[in-house]
Amino acid sequence: MAGKVFFSVSMSLDGFIAPASLGELMGRQWMELQQWIFPQRHFRENLKLGEGGEEGRDNDIVRETFERTGASVMGKNMFDAGEKMWPEEAPFHTPVFVVTHEKRDPWERPGGTVFRFVNDGIESALDQAREAAGDRDVRIAGGGATILEYLNAGLVDEFSIALSPVLFGSGIRLFEGVDASRIALEQIRSEPSPRATHLTYGVHPR
Ligand SMILES: NC(=O)c1ccc[n+]([C@@H]2O[C@H](COP(=O)([O-])OP(=O)(O)OC[C@H]3O[C@@H](n4cnc5c(N)ncnc54)[C@H](OP(=O)(O)O)[C@@H]3O)[C@@H](O)[C@H]2O)c1
Repeated sequence: MAGKVFFSVSMSLDGFIAPASLGELMGRQWMELQQWIFPQRHFRENLKLGEGGEEGRDNDIVRETFERTGASVMGKNMFDAGEKMWPEEAPFHTPVFVVTHEKRDPWERPGGTVFRFVNDGIESALDQAREAAGDRDVRIAGGGATILEYLNAGLVDEFSIALSPVLFGSGIRLFEGVDASRIALEQIRSEPSPRATHLTYGVHPR
């Protein structure tokens, strides 16, 4: 049976998922946005940030999200930012399909991550990701522009937001340009942790 297509992001209380410029990545705003995830044991191990870490519900959510994902799709901006920051053993351990205009050979990393660069659109990238994921789910990893393309095309089944207790004021808005007339949401789960509020929604055509 085919898995679901989902995305899972951290969002500021005022709706932003990244600072305005990539140069600010890893700056104060990003660290505050991701303050719930950095201490988690699974995240730390996967990103090679060091031993140990928290093991409560936030850690379970990180691990469950990782384990359900059989392949990821991401935009070129997220890939460019990650290429500079991910450890040599990139943290996906599955195929990753990068939607881009740039032609580039597949980039294989130790540990099972293979980045493939897809030049013929989001549906082609998703078809390839579904095929690679088998029974597991496909994660639209980000960033905002790519998530929105999939959402507006009616190709997302479910999404989760870790709502962080921080205000950005400006930056990349998750839902800027969403086609609200076509998309209806169903609340599946809301789960507070000491560090964030985890919200999960089903997506249906309106
Ligand atoms: N808060 C979170 O949890 C979270 C999660 C993930 C990412 N992020 C953040 O999101 C930011 C990046 O998001 P973004 O919205 O700037 O960009 P993005 O979605 O990562 O990438 C957009 C780029 O991907 C390529 N692309 C997208 N759709 C395409 C298509 N249909 N055909 C061909 N190419 C296509 C284009 O690049 P080219 O024309 O150059 O190929 C486009 O400019 C980063 O700062 C990242 O940190 C945040």
